[in-house]
Amino acid sequence: MVTISVIKADIGGMVGHSSSHPDILALGQRELDAAKQSGLLIDGHASHCGDDMFLIMTHERGEDNEQIHKLAWDTFIKGTDLAKKLKLYGAGQDLLTDAFSGNIRGAGPGSAEMEIDERPSEPIIVFMGDKTSAGGFNLALYKMFADPFNTPGLVIGEPLHDGFSFEIQDVKEHQKITLNAPEELYDLLVFIGAPSRYAIKRVRNRLTGEIAACSSTDKLSLIAGRYVGKDDPTMVVRCQGSFPAVGEVLEPFATAYTVEGWMRGSHNGPLMPVGLKDAHPARFDGPPRLVALGFQLADGKLNGPNDMFDDPSFNNARQEASNIADYLRKHGPFEPHRLPLDEMEYTTMPLIRDKLAGRWTALEEAREHAMAGPISEVE
Ligand code: F6R
Ligand code: MG
Ligand code: MG
Repeated sequence: MVTISVIKADIGGMVGHSSSHPDILALGQRELDAAKQSGLLIDGHASHCGDDMFLIMTHERGEDNEQIHKLAWDTFIKGTDLAKKLKLYGAGQDLLTDAFSGNIRGAGPGSAEMEIDERPSEPIIVFMGDKTSAGGFNLALYKMFADPFNTPGLVIGEPLHDGFSFEIQDVKEHQKITLNAPEELYDLLVFIGAPSRYAIKRVRNRLTGEIAACSSTDKLSLIAGRYVGKDDPTMVVRCQGSFPAVGEVLEPFATAYTVEGWMRGSHNGPLMPVGLKDAHPARFDGPPRLVALGFQLADGKLNGPNDMFDDPSFNNARQEASNIADYLRKHGPFEPHRLPLDEMEYTTMPLIRDKLAGRWTALEEAREHAMAGPISEVE
């Protein structure tokens, strides 16, 4: 069995929150190479999208392994020290605890891990997002694994025809449920259509039981209880055979659908699929970006990456994203560009509400109701 672990964090940006510094990425790669030398990892690749560093690792130690999580944590700590020296912006931004306590979950960084029985040929795609949020992959995962208009394999591919199961996490109540497509599609959509609360964590092939996809669902603000940065997500998807084809996995991103994030983590904006060369969101700190790195695993070795969105056939999606960005920006501080009050990562509401508390007066109708007393008394 091989485990793919992607662990990511924003440990400092250049310039501002727009991108990473090459020395930070080089440090990340050096740490992974050393772990490969020591036998901890089979392979490792450090990459980035915007100001987030993604450590893509393969090993034989299973999910939630303390040594693997510690490797990622120590790499982020060393990266933070370098980010401080380079005076990068927001150095150590996503590291919420002072010391590592056995598992990276709940400590700030996001993670997506899957233990697999590597097939004779194992194509995988690792997605890396910036200026968006956990749950931002719900629509795409639905299209890949439940929508025959996106994935004809669901209809005409025998190993996909029994459908897929979706594990959904309620990120606020910290509970999970598994629902089956296609029978429970309408139940599924009730939840995953509200991605700020319900995020798809895992997808499995129902015929074979194999894990098909895994995404990070870590919500920094819910961990820290205050704004600390957006939970730029990652996701690993297996492709071909009993899973959607590479093209079916990438196809949902041909539409620049709307996600939460963007400026100050407090706006809706289009998700723009980009090659690494364009993975540095600048306009209004965005719009949100997504990179897709393709690998062929070979006994856990990461052959690749191929920069999958570095493809002119995604030009229209990028143009669409720019057009939607223009349109949404015209709303300025109004919804639906600005997020609803309880979803904003930055807010001055409590401050302003308290300041103006004495200036609010009850509406006339409300005063009349109060004087009339409860309805039962009037009768
Ligand atoms: C959003 C993001 C940026 C920052 C913004 C303000 O995820 O990282 O949009 O929120 O640039 O940053 P600060 O508060 O650090 O000045
Ligand atoms: Mg940042
Ligand atoms: Mg980021």
